[in-house]
Amino acid sequence: MQITAVEGLGAEITDVDIKSLSDAEFAAIEDAFAEHGVIFFRDQDTTETDHIAFAERFGDINVNRFFAAHPDYPQIALVAKEPDQKDNIGGGWHTDHSYDHEPALGSVLVARELPESGGDTMFASMYKAYESLPDDLKARIEGRSAIHSGKHIFGEGPDSYYKTSDAGEHDEGTGRIGNADVAATLVDPEHPIVITHPLSGKKALYVNPAFTREIVGISKEESEELLSDLYTHVFTGHDFHHRFKWEPGSIAMWDNRSTWHWALNDYQGQRRIMHRITIEGCALDA
Ligand SMILES: [Fe+2]
Repeated sequence: MQITAVEGLGAEITDVDIKSLSDAEFAAIEDAFAEHGVIFFRDQDTTETDHIAFAERFGDINVNRFFAAHPDYPQIALVAKEPDQKDNIGGGWHTDHSYDHEPALGSVLVARELPESGGDTMFASMYKAYESLPDDLKARIEGRSAIHSGKHIFGEGPDSYYKTSDAGEHDEGTGRIGNADVAATLVDPEHPIVITHPLSGKKALYVNPAFTREIVGISKEESEELLSDLYTHVFTGHDFHHRFKWEPGSIAMWDNRSTWHWALNDYQGQRRIMHRITIEGCALDA
């Protein structure tokens, strides 16, 4: 087994079969995951049960509340888009589950059916985003925290993604995202803006454009300006981005606490079917 860092962030793990990992190989994979934030495998021949078994080595599975599930394996969420559907799931920079008090550790995404072209996933390193922040921006977020929410995405509100996209469960929707009533019951958490990563001990920037709502203890205007400055830093930090091109048999596993991702929606008229398993995480400290 070989672990090779790739451009921007992440590591590709080769000469390995995730179905038959020794304990030593698995330990090395866990270390690579903590250090690089996202790990990539190629040419893996896996069934749904292989996918579940691999994910379970990292921890308990989080059964997704909002995504349609695989008909036979509720642990597997479907991240799908059919040729006649317009909107995709995850089509902007974000990290999953920051709207939870104990955000999920990460996800293992397996490519099941790919478009002929397009459908790449972008990743960004929140370790490197934090390290490269200008000192004045670091000073502005020192000791601060922010409120996160999933209601405006998954809830019933008129502007939510659930209501406005064709992924939602409504008259023009396809039901790829559902359970909006559960979104309404979420209690929005407050997380430090800079976290100490629970696996690596490194500092990571922990706000994201999809789910972070406002910074605590400053005015709404100041909060918007500061979040915008932080996001611009990440959007333009091309040296800590990686564009992952999916192939049959590809698997990516990302860490929600140290990366962002963005599923590009540039394959209209084609089918893309991915299977996602998400692993439970923990509360995050400064
Ligand atoms: Fe996502």
